[in-house]
Amino acid sequence: MSGHLIAGLSLATTWLSGSAWRRADSQAERHHDVELYVELARRAEQACLHFVFRPDTVFLDPLSQAQGPGTSGLDPTLLLTCVARATRHIGLVTTLSTSFQEPFHIARSLESLQIISGGRAAWNLVTGLEGQHNFGHRPFLEASGRYRQAEESLRVVQALLRSYPAEALRLDRESGQYADVQAIRPIDHQGPHFQVQGPLTLAAGRFGPLPVFQAGASADGRAFAARHADAVFAATPTVEAACELRQALRQAAAQFGRPQRDIRVLPGLSLYLAHTRDEAQALFEQSHAHLGRAQRLAKLAATLGIAVEGLPTDRRLGPDDFPAPAQAVRSRTHAELLRRRIASDRPTLDALLSSPEVVSSAHWQVVGTPDDAVEQILAWQVAGAIDGVIALPGGSLGSLGLFIDEVVPALQRAGSLRTAFAKGGLMAQLQAA
Ligand SMILES: Cc1cc2nc3c(=O)[nH]c(=O)nc-3n(C[C@H](O)[C@H](O)[C@H](O)COP(=O)(O)O)c2cc1C
Repeated sequence: MSGHLIAGLSLATTWLSGSAWRRADSQAERHHDVELYVELARRAEQACLHFVFRPDTVFLDPLSQAQGPGTSGLDPTLLLTCVARATRHIGLVTTLSTSFQEPFHIARSLESLQIISGGRAAWNLVTGLEGQHNFGHRPFLEASGRYRQAEESLRVVQALLRSYPAEALRLDRESGQYADVQAIRPIDHQGPHFQVQGPLTLAAGRFGPLPVFQAGASADGRAFAARHADAVFAATPTVEAACELRQALRQAAAQFGRPQRDIRVLPGLSLYLAHTRDEAQALFEQSHAHLGRAQRLAKLAATLGIAVEGLPTDRRLGPDDFPAPAQAVRSRTHAELLRRRIASDRPTLDALLSSPEVVSSAHWQVVGTPDDAVEQILAWQVAGAIDGVIALPGGSLGSLGLFIDEVVPALQRAGSLRTAFAKGGLMAQLQAA
């Protein structure tokens, strides 16, 4: 067991997911209220967490809104900019998609957040799940093509961030020289996906490099992460899955000449916490009570990219019951995790429709007391499965409160989490872990 774990808190409203928004104390009215996120980020900062994290998608199924907030929500970078103004130390991980957003906009937004926060920004780089109908000018490529596009986007963003270095600023009132124009260079990028002249419209780099987070874990996603990611937001439902992913990423990073410790595996940790296990179980069940059989079947079909009508109900199911997808799946990572669950558990259809991957998510899940969460996190750390976690509190805001007020202090007492911020921006905080 080495060093401290890294800890992040997701500011996606996971505590409103499923039926949980219907609780009297859910504060669902505040879904678009930036003050709520500021309060939560301040609590996370007091607890010395490394960062708050805002995942994001750019599509909305209107029908989903009948039952909950779904994929609706504030723009992540604008939200985190407000959080930046109200906090001093905590990192701010925003999400921008290389499939839908132009590298110029990405570079400008990220560096703006970096400057406004004094070096606390990071980029959760996603290749996107859906949303092409909102961005008609650019084709939505198949998954491998999206990673090639992401490589190019990242290259352009990095070049733009170097194109107007902060050192170019002179502000010499005497001579009248505002900036050294020799140091400001267009990038003249001509690639298959992007043509960008540059330079960027702001002086960049004063606060050092921005960490890159990445999530997709297909072979393409892993290769991308091994080359470029400082941290991986991982969906790993079991400790074995996390160990396998961490080992594979560290080995692949080494093959690209990177130190293994430079790639940090941070699984999403879905938490349904209460003071007793029975209460926690009730919280979990209440949160998923809205999901009827038809909706569970629809989620199964959508995740696997196949029709699922006519699956037998009187025996256990295995991989042979699920043919290869007829169409491209939204996320190969999630499809693969569900297929692994089927292969390892050989569940009946009823059991499959109750599995976390169908009713909730493919993330590591703790439904229990704060002690249960602490015990599991320590066990995963000892197993070498994780470099940290990104907490995704579910069921209620109380679950989030128990994470910050009980789980984090217990991990600090156990020596697994730090009790003070290191010097420097977010990259330095990650490196100090
Ligand atoms: C754990 C996890 C979280 C993700 N979060 C987002 C997100 O917030 N926004 C988004 O557009 N895509 C998200 N994605 C999608 C990925 O960026 C990627 O486009 C998708 O998984 C396909 O890549 P793959 O073939 O490697 O699975 C996420 C994927 C995973 C596995």
